Amino acid sequence: MAINVKKIREQFPALSLTDEGKARIYLDNPGGTQVPRQVLDRMERYLVHTNANHGGPFRTSVESDHVLEEAHQGMADLLNAESADEIVFGPNMTTLTFAVSRSIGRLLSRGDVILLTRMDHDGNIGPWLHLAEDLGLKVRWMSFDLETYEYDLAEAADLLKDGAVKLAAINYASNCLGTINNVKAITELAHQSDAMVFVDAVQYVPHGPTDVQDLDCDFLVCSPYKFFGPHQGVLWGKSELLEKLEAYKVRPADDNAPGKFETGTQLHEGQAGTLGVLEYLQWIGETMGSEYQGYFPEFSGRRMSLHAAMLAVQEYEQTLSRRLIDGLRSLAGVVVRGISNQNDFSRRVPTVSFTVKNQNPEEIALKLAEENIFIWHGHNYALEAIRMMELEESGGVVRIGPVHYNTVEEIDCALEVLKTCW
Ligand SMILES: Cc1ncc(COP(=O)(O)O)c(C=O)c1O
Repeated sequence: MAINVKKIREQFPALSLTDEGKARIYLDNPGGTQVPRQVLDRMERYLVHTNANHGGPFRTSVESDHVLEEAHQGMADLLNAESADEIVFGPNMTTLTFAVSRSIGRLLSRGDVILLTRMDHDGNIGPWLHLAEDLGLKVRWMSFDLETYEYDLAEAADLLKDGAVKLAAINYASNCLGTINNVKAITELAHQSDAMVFVDAVQYVPHGPTDVQDLDCDFLVCSPYKFFGPHQGVLWGKSELLEKLEAYKVRPADDNAPGKFETGTQLHEGQAGTLGVLEYLQWIGETMGSEYQGYFPEFSGRRMSLHAAMLAVQEYEQTLSRRLIDGLRSLAGVVVRGISNQNDFSRRVPTVSFTVKNQNPEEIALKLAEENIFIWHGHNYALEAIRMMELEESGGVVRIGPVHYNTVEEIDCALEVLKTCW
């Protein structure tokens, strides 16, 4: 095991905080993660030394623009984008998706079909439903299997085979079920029918290496605050598509991507902080990822370190998934709502949702909160998935979401408290 969790935790000031003598146990990570000191350093340095608006000839503005360019290049390395110009920063995934969906809508006509899924977070559903309403588009839905918690590729092929679908909006990893989907295969099917593919990777990027060129999708969105950075969103798009799309922009703004999509003044310190996360992940790749570098022979430098880091993270997290899921399944009345067979853990992230017979998810979350253990409950915006599982009326699910800075001891601690909850 390459990840040295002690060294990792030393990078995160928030992880050592206590309240009334009780350590904080952060298992709320699918909602947002804590940040390493590299993020704090970058943000402070930006605000003290280079705080300025974009495009001026004076020192602070020139240096600020340099930081922004570096942040775009860094995200291109993390996602294996062809160019930094394919990276668009914005406030969060949802806002970016609303904005770009309007631009994509300019390529669509009344009666065109879009494909949405029952597994997605509403951030990759709501914007498209609004677009469908405004433009008179037809919506086709892809479900997931209620036993395997995965998409059925035969169903995907069926939904796409008549060539009517112009855009498929799909998710990489589910924020509710934890399933990692075969985005590459679905993209291939969609492209055979000339449909564009828009991927929500918000819950995948924190847990594994992301390669947009290998996936061959057309757009991919993620949120740095879910992978140890500040509250930011990032959209990647294929350069020819970003160039082709007409942006909703003010006239003096840049006519080219990414500037034409980065409306108004951006959160520069957020981009600086995102660069800090990339420095942190690069450090993992360089100090703990050597055995994973061979998996990426085509990469070098930071790009290789980032991908090796995410593979090291992925392997470590499987031990957390195992401990958590085994522990949950040994508790009376628990139903894990996601892949539970150890042999299939490579197809899931460690985000684990579960229900307990006759127990209210909110009450369980409250009991853990009393012990300073932070977890989420409810639908967590995965409305369609919760409805498909018929859990809306009963308050949704309890969701425990570790990341690579969590320890087996923390999982055990949460399980011990759960034993006393019902
Ligand atoms: C899978 C998924 N997609 C989208 C979002 C929305 O992201 P943001 O808060 O950046 O808009 C979330 C947030 O929880 C998510 O989990």
